[in-house]
Amino acid sequence: MSEIVITGGNRLCGELSVQGAKNSVLPVLAATVLCNGECVIHNCPKLSDVDTSLKILSHLGCRCKNENGTVITDGTSACNYDIPDTLMREMRSSVVFLGAMIGRTGRAVISSPGGCELGPRPIDLHLSSLEKMGVTVCEEHGYLNCIAEDGLKGAEITLNFPSVGATENIILAAVTAEGDTVIHGAAKEPEISDLADFLNRAGARINGCGSDTVRIQGVKSLNGTEHTIIPDRIVAATYMACAAITGGELILKNAMPPHMASVLWLFKETGCRVNISGKSIKIKAPSRLCRVPTVRSLVYPGFPTDAGPIATALLSKADGTSVFVENIFENRFRYVDELKRFGAKIKTEGKIAVIEGVDRLSAADCKSTDLRGGAAIVIAALAAVGESRIGEIHHIERGYDDITGNLAALGAQVKKE
Ligand code: EPZ
Repeated sequence: MSEIVITGGNRLCGELSVQGAKNSVLPVLAATVLCNGECVIHNCPKLSDVDTSLKILSHLGCRCKNENGTVITDGTSACNYDIPDTLMREMRSSVVFLGAMIGRTGRAVISSPGGCELGPRPIDLHLSSLEKMGVTVCEEHGYLNCIAEDGLKGAEITLNFPSVGATENIILAAVTAEGDTVIHGAAKEPEISDLADFLNRAGARINGCGSDTVRIQGVKSLNGTEHTIIPDRIVAATYMACAAITGGELILKNAMPPHMASVLWLFKETGCRVNISGKSIKIKAPSRLCRVPTVRSLVYPGFPTDAGPIATALLSKADGTSVFVENIFENRFRYVDELKRFGAKIKTEGKIAVIEGVDRLSAADCKSTDLRGGAAIVIAALAAVGESRIGEIHHIERGYDDITGNLAALGAQVKKE
């Protein structure tokens, strides 16, 4: 199995362009199933999750190709309504195809996505919302068989938790449903607004994304269109942490600072100098990072749960003790044991991690536990003295486009073996 090998201690300095957002491109690719015509999606990151999504699109009957980061796909001939178990297992977030498949064919059959590295990840909010829209859901032998006998109908839906995936699935089911749909308590993440921008460009009528209440007027059909995926705010935070923990200086181009307010706050709290100029973010690390008394993950626009592992790795080298509270997922600290191999002093209790900053990390051999946990391990390895080897890097490659190439370009001593 491949490994990432990092000899830590180099200051990371330079310029980097932020990749397209994984959590935007996945729902947008699912949405193309609904479009009668060619869709051209620019700024798609080169990720295994994008590759898996293209396999799903082909399986559903879409003609699709990836031309060096621009995906061209046409949902006109999409007729299948099942996702093979192998592909569901490859990418848990395939569940976002549910609404689009039902919208296109009236049916969807997927294997229950089950839990993942972050703990149990139920989809009860997805299913109960779709049922309100006229879908019957039968679960048998680990498969979910969804049928909209009389087609999808608009409905008034209240989410008791602003689930990102559930909000996306409701929107995808509602855009060509009969009648209007209102979502109360919708998730407000920028990736949802990006999905809505794409769909509206294709002829949908969606209002209110980014607020608690989203309104969708069902239309007869959607046409093909062109779209550019927004920058990935979590990847941007990751590279900022790589520079900050190594005492470096980084300019991020093609970022979206307004999507990163809570993350930029954290870097400033650690003593980094952060300057914004349009779509560029410049960060300069202090000689020693300051601790941050408490960081809590919250739904957007609060501090993103996906940046929790990034923050924890960063604060492991701060001067003093910080506390991170994970409020979104039940079991998102599996990477902490790996960070401790570098000499990090972190204690976790339930949803709380107490991070006692150390002034030195030392190299270690470890394994990525999940996507963002893997990124946290890379951050620690860049600061650790000596050569570290990181295994299970497929987790990292799900969300980071050419992470070794980008880090090497910033001066890191890194290679993939
Ligand atoms: C999306 O996951 C992202 N994934 C996650 O990013 C991100 O961490 C998460 O949103 C929160 O921002 C993609 O967009 C592909 P949720 P999603 O539904 O949709 C509970 C990464 O690192 N819940 O908002 O699965 C759930 O168990 C990934 O890129 C229910 O209880 O997140 C969790 O505790 C990791 N029932 C919480 O809500 C449901 O029906 C947040 O889930 C749905 C969710």
